[in-house]
Amino acid sequence: MKGAILAASVTATLLVATLACQTSNTPTDMPATDRKWWKEAIVYQIYPRSFQDSDGDGVGDLKGILSRLDYIKSLGITAVWLNPIYSSPNDDNGYDISDYRGIMREFGTMEDFDALLKGMHDRGIKLIMDLVVNHSSDEHEWFQQSRSSRTNPYRNYYHWWPAEKGTPPYRYSLFDVNHDAWAYDSLTNAYYLHYFSRKQPDLNWENPKVRQEVYDIMKFWADKGVDGFRLDAFQFAAKDTTFPEFPKGYEKNFTLYYAMQGNLHEYLKEMNREVFSKYDVMSVAEGAGNTFEDAHNLVDADRQELNMAYAFEGVDIAKPEGYSLLTFKEVFSRWDSSFAEKGWLSIFLANHDQARMVSRFGNDSPEFRAPSSKMLSTFIMTMRGTPYYYYGDELGMTNGDFQRIEEFRDVQTLNEYQYQKNQGADMARFLERKKFESRDNGRTPFQWDDSRHAGFTTGTPWIKVAPNYKTINAAAQEKDPNSCLNYFRELVKLRKNNLALVYGDYTLLDEANPNTYSYTRELDGKKFLILLNFTSTPASTNTGLDVSKARVVLGNYPQPSRDGKLQPYESVIYELP
Ligand code: NOJ
Repeated sequence: MKGAILAASVTATLLVATLACQTSNTPTDMPATDRKWWKEAIVYQIYPRSFQDSDGDGVGDLKGILSRLDYIKSLGITAVWLNPIYSSPNDDNGYDISDYRGIMREFGTMEDFDALLKGMHDRGIKLIMDLVVNHSSDEHEWFQQSRSSRTNPYRNYYHWWPAEKGTPPYRYSLFDVNHDAWAYDSLTNAYYLHYFSRKQPDLNWENPKVRQEVYDIMKFWADKGVDGFRLDAFQFAAKDTTFPEFPKGYEKNFTLYYAMQGNLHEYLKEMNREVFSKYDVMSVAEGAGNTFEDAHNLVDADRQELNMAYAFEGVDIAKPEGYSLLTFKEVFSRWDSSFAEKGWLSIFLANHDQARMVSRFGNDSPEFRAPSSKMLSTFIMTMRGTPYYYYGDELGMTNGDFQRIEEFRDVQTLNEYQYQKNQGADMARFLERKKFESRDNGRTPFQWDDSRHAGFTTGTPWIKVAPNYKTINAAAQEKDPNSCLNYFRELVKLRKNNLALVYGDYTLLDEANPNTYSYTRELDGKKFLILLNFTSTPASTNTGLDVSKARVVLGNYPQPSRDGKLQPYESVIYELP
């Protein structure tokens, strides 16, 4: 009953928002040259393995995505970032590529890809591809050649350390069972470098032939008409190939030693000349180095390297033991102010390397899951920067339900389990932590409906479906005007119709308030005030702004706050007169 009352009045709030959106494409005094499609884009990230299976093998595929394009379009988003879909033995679910011009067998064929790209373009949606070129698969022909003999022409496509020089200086590997980034290969009595798993040998970017191969691959996809590239782990691509010793314990802060090394910027400038300058494609780097200066050096327009940075400091804040909103506000505000005049950022709270947004940053209890999820979506869609919104978050999908190690699929979780076990660690504790933070939590199948396996597959899903799909699913939310899904659609409309939310100045208010996050976004006289309660109890915010004459544009409660007293996880957006 309570739910029904709530339903009726939230609909009213949404209606207000819809009307506002229809009339408000703000004219702007901004120079036209400063406006870019990729700054105004709203990116929806799809993990293809888990979106929709079309052939009953339990693995999502391209035809599956194709069959859901009308749903994707209905969200209003303007671009899709697809995690890797290239041929791969799947040690790391496609982040280990064996043929950069082929499609992964389980995902379909090149014809399916062409149909998908056309289907997206027909609907006005752009496609951003994942480019994984810090490393390839060890099953790539280049590596097969490279390891075959020390004199093979492909030998220098990778980093080798001849064993007669002794053991190589320690390099930490993120995914290796021994944390050792050097793997010994008896075939040529040498070690090869792999920052990730043993099946992901690092390419040698210092070799101009490797660079040319990569530009050719990029042109192959750009010629097909893709609209952008996300550069996986690229901040690690350049290396000091003399491999000096690093200080003991450096792995605790390995990015200081791995990121933005050597000639990285020269390679990016070359990539820009060879590829980006010749196509209307956007580019986003995964990782933004160690300082603001690093991040600016990657993306400031006059550098002619990449378009936007994707920095982790914000998403890294949430830990199993919780996080501080004061830190959260400080981090996002600091990044915003550093990029206010120059450069461009991504805004996100989740991706395929994180547990679910609502479980980490919100509250996934039945009572607060929906309001907290809507509140976090409000944050993402009202900040400056290009939003990257992860599939399933529009439903408020939660972490999965992984209990035993056998239920996990992620190479990082599985190899780390082995490592910890070898160290004699407390494995019960390890599992507890992974239940919360394993990447698998963000990779469970999309919850389409309440039928078997959530409508994801007719076969056996490659990874466990989250058991709450019976109640949390797209079909149910389509019918509910107050659902997370319909609220997200309103947020998207609002952002698309208001350049102030894209380009407008951001001002943090009530900074020291530990419970609420309040800020304004303002452009050409149009001013929005956003109030967010990050807690499960009522909380007040004192912004010093008079909202008595302000218009409520969108809120996640039937009676939005009028006096700065916010209900649990309330989000409200006002337009100030
Ligand atoms: C970053 C990707 O996002 C992650 O999923 C992958 O495992 C590593 N890079 C290695 O490619």
